[in-house]
Amino acid sequence: MTGDGPTEGPSNSLWGGRFEGGMDPRMVPLNLSLDVDHRLWPEDIRGSKAWAAALGGAGVLTEEEVASIRSGLDAVAARLADGFDFRGAPDEDIHSLVERLLGEEIESLAGKLHTGRSRNDQVATDLRLWGMDACRALIARLTEVLGALLRLADRGRNVVMPGYTHLQQGQPILGAHWALSPFWPLLRDVEALERVIESAGVLPLGSGALAGCPFPVDREALAAELGFHAVTENSLDAISDRDWVLDLLYAGMRIGLHLSRIAEDLVLFGSREFGFVRLSDGFSTGSSLMPQKRNPDLAELTRGKSGRLTGNLVTLATILKGLPTGYNRDLQEDKPPVFDTVDTLRTLLPAVAGAIEGAEFVPERIRAALDPQLLATDLADYLVKRGVPFRESHEVIGTLVRISEVERIPLHELPAERYREVHPAFEADVLEVFDWERSVASRKSRGGTAPNSVEAQMERARKVLAAVQGGATERDASLG
Ligand code: ARG
Repeated sequence: MTGDGPTEGPSNSLWGGRFEGGMDPRMVPLNLSLDVDHRLWPEDIRGSKAWAAALGGAGVLTEEEVASIRSGLDAVAARLADGFDFRGAPDEDIHSLVERLLGEEIESLAGKLHTGRSRNDQVATDLRLWGMDACRALIARLTEVLGALLRLADRGRNVVMPGYTHLQQGQPILGAHWALSPFWPLLRDVEALERVIESAGVLPLGSGALAGCPFPVDREALAAELGFHAVTENSLDAISDRDWVLDLLYAGMRIGLHLSRIAEDLVLFGSREFGFVRLSDGFSTGSSLMPQKRNPDLAELTRGKSGRLTGNLVTLATILKGLPTGYNRDLQEDKPPVFDTVDTLRTLLPAVAGAIEGAEFVPERIRAALDPQLLATDLADYLVKRGVPFRESHEVIGTLVRISEVERIPLHELPAERYREVHPAFEADVLEVFDWERSVASRKSRGGTAPNSVEAQMERARKVLAAVQGGATERDASLG
């Protein structure tokens, strides 16, 4: 490798030595990845500075050489940070570009940096560094959604609404209980991202192209300098392992699925037919034709993006399937899906947080939608409390529901005597069952919808959010 800088057309200076002719022009655009991987430049610089120091420690470079390379890399970073035109660069990928620019700073000494290193362990390291920071940024954004859900729950503490199964009214619940139901899945997503950070935090650098490094670099020190908690055990595995990327894409997909459920509720509950929840103007959209429209595009886009997030996981899994051992260029295709998942979520999460922040319950519409049949289970429980086996009481209430429907008299307007005719265990107080607040208050199990249980749930949610936020602020600070 000569490292003699840019030539006419794409520069093959990283590997051109054995080739006589240039690259076929039809191969050039296929071979380029700079348009995608240029954003790894800060990580490439970080990794390269650490590698220079490791080579110094191994006695491959003198102290002065290490110092010149490191300050040369700083100068390259300053150029790249300052509106560098990546599109105009002739280089194959970000690693080639950084090395060429380093040559412009420190001339032939730049050619010593790549000693013992391959782009295979280099790109694996860069992407892990990028991925760990990306997960931290996503966690910070997820906590904003969690906070918004908690505040929505607070606004729904006194709202009794229908709870649904099969999108049919099932049992009454508190609005706060509904609002907190996505809090926990999204919290599990935060935990999933924390596990991704853990699995990404194993250093591949020092694995070379596939077989390891012949110079005595201290990989543990390298890991510590770069913020990895461990080093890889097998160089062949290290340069091709993208499991942590799969984990990240899976976490991204799951976040998308969880957000799409919130979104679907917002679409339904924001419709004229339900009217339970109103999004703020800032998160509603109009129609270019129909002046009355108030569309939930926010929620629909959220639902749509979940398809894209799912696609990104499938893309990478498909790329990885059937690869032979070792580095294969297919692996370069890992970046578009992972960048897209992270970018998509970085755009989506603040919008979702803002929409939830501004969402309001519409209590009168919710009240109007409550059907007394929502208390059918409570009626069954009434009999159970009087010693009737649940299966029998289920049957009895079914009969009463049928009578109510056939005679077109709502359950709560059937006289107590009609109840007694169907089962002798009913007493005059049966109609007291028809009390929304009482029904909700009866479900006091931990995790249930009774006001006290929901208060306790909110309290736990607040505590875990504070803990996550504590971690997230630390992380944000470390992001610089
Ligand atoms: N651009 C490549 C990638 O992202 C870098 C590694 C290239 N290695 C190689 N042996 N061609 O995977």
